[in-house]
Amino acid sequence: MAIRGDVAARQALALPADGGEMGAAASRLDPARARQRKLPEPPPVTEHGPARVIAMCNQKGGVGKTTSTINLGAALVEYGRRVLLVDLDPQGALSVGLGVPAQQLERTVYNALMEHRTTLADVRVATDVPGLDLVPSNIDLSAAEVQLVSEVAREQTLLRALDSVRDEYDYILIDCQPSLGLLTVNALTAAHGVMIPLECEFFSLRGVALLVDTIDKVKERLNPELEISGILATMYDTRTVHCREVFSRVVEAFGDTVFQTVIQRTVRFPETTVAGQPITTWAPTSSGAAAYRDLAKEVIAL
Ligand SMILES: Nc1ncnc2c1ncn2[C@@H]1O[C@H](COP(=O)(O)OP(=O)(O)O)[C@@H](O)[C@H]1O
Ligand SMILES: [Mg+2]
Repeated sequence: MAIRGDVAARQALALPADGGEMGAAASRLDPARARQRKLPEPPPVTEHGPARVIAMCNQKGGVGKTTSTINLGAALVEYGRRVLLVDLDPQGALSVGLGVPAQQLERTVYNALMEHRTTLADVRVATDVPGLDLVPSNIDLSAAEVQLVSEVAREQTLLRALDSVRDEYDYILIDCQPSLGLLTVNALTAAHGVMIPLECEFFSLRGVALLVDTIDKVKERLNPELEISGILATMYDTRTVHCREVFSRVVEAFGDTVFQTVIQRTVRFPETTVAGQPITTWAPTSSGAAAYRDLAKEVIAL
């Protein structure tokens, strides 16, 4: 894949201006901005469940899976949805990011997957955000990848485990680890949709083909309903040609599967991890919080 020069990029990006606050010229230079349309306000809900299950997946680390799981979850809650976040990464970053001291917990997602008498409902905890619950994880889960191999119907373990909770929630978001191993296959088998957070950086594009391949295989063999909910551009930086280029390539390749919402690169996100809170409560008026609210609107409208 060739990266085009700046001039060619400008020409390729000469999309119709949307007349937004940045003005026509700026909009032409920002392919994400140019795609943006007004999003519908989510309708209120009076009843909850059964949940739509979304796996947040990319085998590359540091692309914003965990950040997006936390903040999309928190934004969905603001729209009155009940949300369960499932930490399926032994690193436990999702748990830490929500202020849950998972390393000290006796029971986590590991127990619900491996012990027949323990359910996900038994190990879930409430977070500080009302309506947002968490199934925590810690290093114990790293053993599951190996132990699951000898289980009957090993790919469907998480799918079965979700039965104890799916009727209580509108959305269940699964934060996957950066690999395409058995835990991730479990997430893809349990999910209705996959969201692919993608850092706007050239090397990110390579991995997506492999991921899409894996998704296709799971769809064919284990979960015919599975679809790609969308690709989410993260760490977007309007100021760099490179980032705008990569975004344009992703849109060329995946079209409407790319969410119109993009997540800008900002230090506010690392800050929220330290605070152990979603950005929607830590910095509720920030542009990062607004972006995840927009993403929630798109997800609800799917
Ligand atoms: N939009 C963003 N801008 C700046 N930093 C971000 C952004 N999203 C995530 N980060 C930071 O990048 C690091 C990796 O993000 P994370 O969500 O943990 O990725 P993953 O779960 O894919 O490994 C974290 O330190 C996080 O705070
Ligand atoms: Mg993560």
